[in-house]
Amino acid sequence: MTTAPFREAAQAIERTLGPAPSTAVVLGSGLGSLVDKARHRRAVPYAEIGLPVTSVSGHAGTLVTGRLGGVPVAFLSGRLHAYEGRPMEEVVRAVRAMSAWGVKRIVLTSAAGALDPTLSPGELLVVEDHLNFMGRNPLVGGDDSLGPRFPDLSRAYDPDLRAEALELAAALGTTLHSGILAGMLGPSYETPAEVRMLAQLGARTVGMSTVPEAIALAQMGTPVIAFSMISNLASGLGDGQLHHSEVKVAADEAGGRLVALLQALVERWA
Ligand code: HPA
Repeated sequence: MTTAPFREAAQAIERTLGPAPSTAVVLGSGLGSLVDKARHRRAVPYAEIGLPVTSVSGHAGTLVTGRLGGVPVAFLSGRLHAYEGRPMEEVVRAVRAMSAWGVKRIVLTSAAGALDPTLSPGELLVVEDHLNFMGRNPLVGGDDSLGPRFPDLSRAYDPDLRAEALELAAALGTTLHSGILAGMLGPSYETPAEVRMLAQLGARTVGMSTVPEAIALAQMGTPVIAFSMISNLASGLGDGQLHHSEVKVAADEAGGRLVALLQALVERWA
């Protein structure tokens, strides 16, 4: 039997970078520069370790290890999205490789639109739960060696990690909202009618990533904490038209607070 691509990637990562740190962070659109805050960095292009490369601007495609506040961390700078039209196995390969490498928990970050008009661009939200509207699931055609075929998702966003993030954000004086993320396939933004529907269903943010990764990691039993970095009010809620450039502007605003929160979290977990 051939080895699953994520296991080969994990072996290549271990050969190149040594043992896994306890935390890996997936950096969403516009958040790639957060790796600059890590010290003693080593970077490896995805292509050299069997991880697929994305086509979206603002996503580098590099695995970086370093220290945040003295604590070893791995950063996945750049992620593949389901809307790029590649198999879901590729979309979740990098996070599965992190789990197989041996990280103890994974932080998922991504840009998201606000469905709740009381949220503002540049603010952060910790994901409590999700609604999967992507019309696909990374476990389809599954491999039973990864974990249960029918995994429970009631703790897909680890409640203890969320509680810690809320406590540390309060201590840092950072506003951290909490709520449900709606995952859409994209790549078009939602219509105003879809935004009203998602808000009525109880979601507070909407994005095009995170959901497949959280499902794949729940199957492997790896705890996840996910943050939405709000880049815009969702379609129909704001004044103008939506544009991808808003993601970078909001990320610049939110990036410093997100790094401070991540640093406090990894120090707590060290
Ligand atoms: N919708 C979906 N995904 C997004 C958005 C949005 O409004 N903003 C950033 N990612």
